[in-house]
Amino acid sequence: MNKVGLVGWRGMVGSVLMDRMQAEGDFNNIDARFFTTSQTGQLGPDFAGEPKSLLDATDVSALSQMDIIISCQGGDYTKSIYPTLRETGWQGYWVDAASALRMTDDSIIALDPVNKDVIEQGLEQGVKTFVGGNCTVSLMLIALGGLFEQDLIEWVSPMTYQAASGAGARNMRELITQMGEIHSSVAQQLANPSSAILEIDKIVANKIKADDLPKDQFGVPLAGSLIPWIDVPMPSGQSKEEWKAQVEANKILGSSKSPIPIDGLCVRVGAMRCHSQAMTIKLKENISVDEIERILASHNEWVKVIPNDRQQTAEELTPVNVTGTLDIPVGRIRKLTMGPEYISAFTVGDQLLWGAAEPLRRMLKIILA
Ligand code: HSE
Repeated sequence: MNKVGLVGWRGMVGSVLMDRMQAEGDFNNIDARFFTTSQTGQLGPDFAGEPKSLLDATDVSALSQMDIIISCQGGDYTKSIYPTLRETGWQGYWVDAASALRMTDDSIIALDPVNKDVIEQGLEQGVKTFVGGNCTVSLMLIALGGLFEQDLIEWVSPMTYQAASGAGARNMRELITQMGEIHSSVAQQLANPSSAILEIDKIVANKIKADDLPKDQFGVPLAGSLIPWIDVPMPSGQSKEEWKAQVEANKILGSSKSPIPIDGLCVRVGAMRCHSQAMTIKLKENISVDEIERILASHNEWVKVIPNDRQQTAEELTPVNVTGTLDIPVGRIRKLTMGPEYISAFTVGDQLLWGAAEPLRRMLKIILA
């Protein structure tokens, strides 16, 4: 059996990956070895067969014994370990959740429901480094896979509504703490149905703006507000999250040489772990909404077309409905007044599942096949 080294398996993305690998029986087909940055020698977990001692994640010689390494340890770890490991001549497969290696020439961004052909061609050509895509990019491509596959898209402008989990576990805690403190500040008035709403609103606004509202992680309040900027600025005026949409999507699709323009604004909102995106799409042809829905629905088993109906949209096309599932609903599909080739669409996906962990475990399965 292939020795598979797991690094960063206790973090948020790593834990979701471990859950999915257990649920799918993936540990039955590998000899899993668990690495740690802080607890070398301690007994490893018991969910992957007989527990073994944890190995040192900074020990290049221990890492080089692995046939495959899956890292959810983050970009700093990848940058410090990966080059040294490859310099030793290690020929194993490196599968990574972090963005550090995504845009290098010798890596492939793995999203097999969309780019199985690119992955398989890469494997045949000896590519050994596979990286999960940015969460919004992967979620958008699974939702719109059918239209991309049939080369029907001239350009897309995705406007995102990104959950706190994309910024990290501490950010999720901070969001909930902010919500709780805001509620506490007006709990008494809320309990009295005759309290004046504008008075409640004033207290809430003051609480959100108060210096003592916890905001170390986001830097500014998120609860009761939003943050229309994610990640560092790029010279183009885009945020890095916005820049990734076009470069990563085209790399995944194998169309980097004549890229499809994909650009929009990325916004952090107070959702927990599902990213949503409102998309304006310019099609290359005037095709009917029925045909568009048929093309989208038949692309993969996770995309679910939601009819453009008020009740179904409110119930099914939401972060709260999608959280913890692999479903990728896409709805609000209609022609825009700009012209018959312009359509809208709205999609939601769990950014820890299809946005992070799931493409990695599926990549492992493809390597093992
Ligand atoms: N960059 C994403 C976000 C998460 O901040 O929501 C990781 O892909």
